[in-house]
Amino acid sequence: MLTIQNSVNLTQLNTLHLNSIANHYIQLTALEQLDEIAAVINNYSRYFVLGGGSNLILPENYDGLVIHNQLKGVTFDNDGSDYKLVTAAAGEIWDDFVANCLENQAYGLENLSLIPGTVGASPVQNIGAYGVEVKDFIDYVTVYDLTIRKFVKLSNVECQFSYRNSYLKNKPQYLVTSVTFKLPKKAKLMISYGDITKQMANIDNPTADDLRACIIATRRSKLPDPAEIGNAGSFFHNPIIAAVQAQELKQRFPDLPIYPTTNAEQIKVSAGWLIDNLGLKGMRSGNLGVYPKQALVLVNYARANKDELIEFAKGIQSKVYEFYQIQLNIEPITP
Ligand code: EPU
Repeated sequence: MLTIQNSVNLTQLNTLHLNSIANHYIQLTALEQLDEIAAVINNYSRYFVLGGGSNLILPENYDGLVIHNQLKGVTFDNDGSDYKLVTAAAGEIWDDFVANCLENQAYGLENLSLIPGTVGASPVQNIGAYGVEVKDFIDYVTVYDLTIRKFVKLSNVECQFSYRNSYLKNKPQYLVTSVTFKLPKKAKLMISYGDITKQMANIDNPTADDLRACIIATRRSKLPDPAEIGNAGSFFHNPIIAAVQAQELKQRFPDLPIYPTTNAEQIKVSAGWLIDNLGLKGMRSGNLGVYPKQALVLVNYARANKDELIEFAKGIQSKVYEFYQIQLNIEPITP
């Protein structure tokens, strides 16, 4: 039986804490509800699936239906080899899930500790941090297709993962119900990311738990806690630009951090550095600001709405463009 609520306040359900009211809202807690939701979906002008709300720019009024994915449950399957197949329902809190995996000797996700949000959102934007992307450990993703009213399993390859992107991102009718991970039973620590390498060097025989603790400490030292200050993590993608342009920039700015991509013609550059180098770190305007410890993070200090935030972001985008001729793209999604 579906309960659809009207005029629901989403301000506490998005980590930027943008003022937002949804005209219609439903809590998805059981797979059995999906057919019923699919049957009524065309009655609404639009819809989107809400997870942890940590990568969203919500409008002041969302005139459609919000489906709040709160599906729960985790299973660990020993597939008899060197791996465990771990299936987590989409509404599980991502960081609780990471901790649960480590407690069950299923490794690999420790670098992704403390990322806000839910398991269901993790493949959509291919979350990544400190040298690991979630795609490295996803076996398959199970979605419910709201248009054909069927469950569909998408293999890792079918998900077409790339930097902060996947096939799922462009398929709003795919509601992620669970994600199945293939996690090694023996930890193989990934500690080649600058800050992390240095800190882990101080620990003898480090374990996955040590790495998780190190990642958590690093994140806490640089990134604001959404429970305290509204934010959506990195607000812009690290831009991927032509290798030729990156080389020119590197000559102008030898300190600019650059990263190779799978395509030799393209280089990823640090958006945080580009913004920081313009002296914008810590800048504040009205309710909004650039976080003083990480220039890639925009923060909502008070009660900003979407329009104010976009205006503020545009100011940064145009300064970056004028100075470096690089277009910064906004990472969080506007439903
Ligand atoms: N930097 C500065 N000033 C800044 C910020 C960064 O100079 O204000 C330079 C520094 O040289 C630093 C380098 O940029 O060493 C990289 O910074 P950081 O390690 O903080 O990583 P990032 O590239 O800014 C990306 C992800 C983060 C992820 C970190 C760590 C994106 C858009 N962001 O940020 O992900 O935690 O790497 O792996 O790719 C997120 O997506 O929400 C997120 C937080």
